[in-house]
Amino acid sequence: MTSGTMEREKTREAVGAMRTSVVPSAGAAASAGAAGGMAPAAMDKMVVSNLNLYYKEFHALKDVSLTFPENQVTALIGPSGCGKSTLLKSLNRMNDLVEGCRVEGSITLDGSDAYRDVEVNDLRRRVGMVFQQPNPFPMSVYDNVAFGPRTHGIKKRAELDEIVEQSLRDAAIWDELKDRLKKNALGLSGGQQQRLCIARALAVRPEVLLMDESTSALDPISTAKIEELVAELKKSYTVIMVTHNMLQALRVSDKTAFFLLGEMVEAGDTDTIFTNPGDPRTADYVAGRFG
Ligand SMILES: Nc1ncnc2c1ncn2[C@@H]1O[C@H](COP(=O)(O)OP(=O)(O)OP(=O)(O)O)[C@@H](O)[C@H]1O
Ligand SMILES: [Mg+2]
Repeated sequence: MTSGTMEREKTREAVGAMRTSVVPSAGAAASAGAAGGMAPAAMDKMVVSNLNLYYKEFHALKDVSLTFPENQVTALIGPSGCGKSTLLKSLNRMNDLVEGCRVEGSITLDGSDAYRDVEVNDLRRRVGMVFQQPNPFPMSVYDNVAFGPRTHGIKKRAELDEIVEQSLRDAAIWDELKDRLKKNALGLSGGQQQRLCIARALAVRPEVLLMDESTSALDPISTAKIEELVAELKKSYTVIMVTHNMLQALRVSDKTAFFLLGEMVEAGDTDTIFTNPGDPRTADYVAGRFG
């Protein structure tokens, strides 16, 4: 293990410890289970139950029920317009901002109702989002990453320095940017900008990371870097990603859910969904026969 990897490992442990001191984590429960002879099972970080979402008259999500296991990557797949982004946005209540959008059913985070029991700013801090197009703010690399923590009241320079470094390390871009912290983020390459946006999302210490086609605007090398990064991030975070790239879903996700026309057709282990799906529509889609 290189010293950089070890350091990153330590950071992750520290972040994990900070969280377990507040809420018992799935890891703790799983190891308790294992000690008692039970197979460790992933706990569900978020649970969507009978979710119906309407944009005015339009019924965009139809009775969707789906669980997102903690410390796993779940991929949402399906043809354009089937509701993947809509579901992702409903997980951190971004749809609250859309006029005429109505939600029925429930979404929980660690068992608490995300629409009734969790304050919306707290929800958005705990459930962060990375978009399709890298969208750094027109300011320095440092200020981009420090933006969220500053909004949450962290002012001490030393503390901010530490958060910025840790977040850039976690987003696997510290080595590339450590000498360019004061440079404008808009001068970075697309792949660097996207990893900076991931660092910015991580800086407020979220628990869930939503990624909406976050590599579709990137070249294969930057895409591979982000895929590697996601595989690392799931040790500390629960990741939910929308992708049109079937190979990407296969490479990085543990669980896959297939959507069609606002319905969740099928969800399960990624391997099963791709090799032995239960529904012929899933089989057609993953084989590239439509969509
Ligand atoms: N703000 C909105 N107002 C009205 N209709 C919307 C709104 N946002 C999305 N829709 C509609 O809801 C449906 C689902 O859209 P959504 O963006 O969730 O699809 P998607 O699966 O993410 O598609 P893509 O793969 O193209 O990104 C589409 O028919 C879309 O036109
Ligand atoms: Mg979308």
